[in-house]
Amino acid sequence: MNTASILTQQAPVTSADISIREKINAMIDDTISSLPAAEKLSSEERHGIIARYSAVLEGNFIYWMTAAYMSVKAEEARPIILENLYEEVRDAHPTMLRKFTMAAHAYPTEQDALAVHENLTKMRAFLGRLSGVQSVLTMAFFEGFIQRFMGPLAELAAAQGSTEMEYTDVHGVCDIEHTEGLFTALSMEMAISPVGSDKDLFEGVDLLRALIGDIVFNQALAA
Ligand SMILES: [Fe+2]
Repeated sequence: MNTASILTQQAPVTSADISIREKINAMIDDTISSLPAAEKLSSEERHGIIARYSAVLEGNFIYWMTAAYMSVKAEEARPIILENLYEEVRDAHPTMLRKFTMAAHAYPTEQDALAVHENLTKMRAFLGRLSGVQSVLTMAFFEGFIQRFMGPLAELAAAQGSTEMEYTDVHGVCDIEHTEGLFTALSMEMAISPVGSDKDLFEGVDLLRALIGDIVFNQALAA
């Protein structure tokens, strides 16, 4: 084995990886700083954000992480994503989210489901293309956003009179490690199956940001 290949194995993180990571972190910062303060929202608005968040996350998070798992070609990236899925299934994270939503009396209605329908459908179609780098990048953004969103989401639920915070407590902590893992998986996937220059690396991230806009601002109904 020559020196170059040893270095490649030991130091998979490139300057391109670092700049992508910085861009994702800046996008997460931007999304979090755009959130309205809980105390400035009406009870109905707080209710809507929790309901739409739940309408997107409960039935789709494991599905989308599974799509990311199926899309990667780098063998060593798979156990990282699989560990994330194990935790989701073993600890029944969708049940935690359902309990959180029900305790805040914000279980999604037909109106909530329809408010996120269009961009949710676009995300499903995007992840269905099974493009490894783009999918893992999208889920790294999602994990990073979720981890940062747990404080504001807990505040919304508390303002609605809920004390059931297992979901937000768990995800405010475990998703730090999950985000790190996904960035590592991303580096591995980029090394063996880079995205062509004709493709937009951030396509899925932009779709997800639009969907988060629906959750927070109910843009679909305002349009
Ligand atoms: Fe989770």
